[in-house]
Amino acid sequence: MFTRYLLLLLFAPLIYYPVQGDIDLDQWISKQHKTSFETILDNINPPGTKRGFFAASLSTHQPDYFYTWTRDSALVARVLTSLQETNDTLLHDYVDFQMDVQNTSTRCNCLGEPKFNKDGSSFKGTWGRPQNDGPAERAITFLLIANRWLDNGYKDTPWIHDTLVPAIIRDLNYISKVWYQPSFDLWEEVLGTHFFTLMVMRKALLDGIDFFKLSNRNVEEYKLASHLIGKRIETFWSEQHNYIMATQNVQNGVQKPSGLDVSTLLAANIIASRNDGFFTPGSDKMLATVVALEESFEPLYPINSQQSDALGTCIGRYPEDIYDGYDTSVGNPWFLATAAYTELYYLAIAEWEKLGVSVNSINRRFFQRIMQVDDGYYSPESATLKEIIKKTTHAADKFLKTIQFHQARNGSMSEQYDRYIGFMAGARDLTWSHAAFITASKAKDSHLIQ
Ligand code: NOJ
Ligand code: NOJ
Repeated sequence: MFTRYLLLLLFAPLIYYPVQGDIDLDQWISKQHKTSFETILDNINPPGTKRGFFAASLSTHQPDYFYTWTRDSALVARVLTSLQETNDTLLHDYVDFQMDVQNTSTRCNCLGEPKFNKDGSSFKGTWGRPQNDGPAERAITFLLIANRWLDNGYKDTPWIHDTLVPAIIRDLNYISKVWYQPSFDLWEEVLGTHFFTLMVMRKALLDGIDFFKLSNRNVEEYKLASHLIGKRIETFWSEQHNYIMATQNVQNGVQKPSGLDVSTLLAANIIASRNDGFFTPGSDKMLATVVALEESFEPLYPINSQQSDALGTCIGRYPEDIYDGYDTSVGNPWFLATAAYTELYYLAIAEWEKLGVSVNSINRRFFQRIMQVDDGYYSPESATLKEIIKKTTHAADKFLKTIQFHQARNGSMSEQYDRYIGFMAGARDLTWSHAAFITASKAKDSHLIQ
């Protein structure tokens, strides 16, 4: 630990250098895309593991992330499913491993068990359980895989219907039954009811309903649950704060008085393809939350006032965070949190391009940071909206530049980067960091993951 900080201090002056002009953003993105894809593949099926094991990171010590988390693996497999270059065998391995996991005995004795060992058995130590976002993310990814295979004329259609679909139904049935019960959040720290968890549950159910449209399966239970979850989600909006509160009904765990959390944005990005305006990236309440969260990190991390203006704000999980990637001390910015800003901005732009935008008392602060603009409606053809979009694009790219600057020169991305001097911290080559970069760059290319 000591040597790490000594090194950081020695290299600290580097952060004053302007962003390197040696390689422009687009070039870096295409290079990083390759590196991130390859790093994800390296973290899947590493030697000595059961096939379909997605390591959260190859780091086995300080911190030990050599497990398959249901959440991380589902979110990573979701990104892989959206990439043409992904080999179907890999997805098949993921599905097989996860179907076994659904039938493995776990300490929570439920589908919300958070993490599994390299041989596929469940982790039995003390941990925050259940984490009920996991089955929802898995169902979303399984549905995406099923659709990819059906669309591509996959040879074994009966297998999809007889094996994969029942696994999807297990997760959806579970969600319909437990959604209102307290569970641990995606950061594994707070037992309560969470905006993020409810949002991914709602998407899983709605995607399931769509999937079963052509069959005569009865989806009434899913319809009712998704409706009730939607009603509950609306109650997370705080008029007093003018942003979405991440958690309600806290039973125990970390205290987070602000209620601000980047998981709110992660949820918006994951559900964006529902396209229903319900807490989507471009919706008023989401934009209000986006700006409030950014403004909470700006003064919090010293690096934000020290780095070049060409970079975007360094973003962490939530302002009260004290997890430093190894232990608890002070929280740091995270790559996946910073990438979430690029992704959200681009997904918001895609909504405005279709529907135009209304600047109002809820989202005003967001737009004012982008440019001087009066309240009112701006159509997609209006010069004002075009200007807003141009400036938002620029702001979105700045977050990518932040990532480019703080990652290692070889394209490596850990979990976090230091709040004082920007050096990487926490689990090395976190699989999710690389997947988050890929979704952000895909959003820039106007590709929406379903
Ligand atoms: C590991 C968890 O995954 C992380 O979210 C948490 O902050 C740390 N443990 C510290 O408790
Ligand atoms: C800690 C994070 O808080 C959690 O979200 C994640 O699942 C694990 N690390 C593994 O990456």
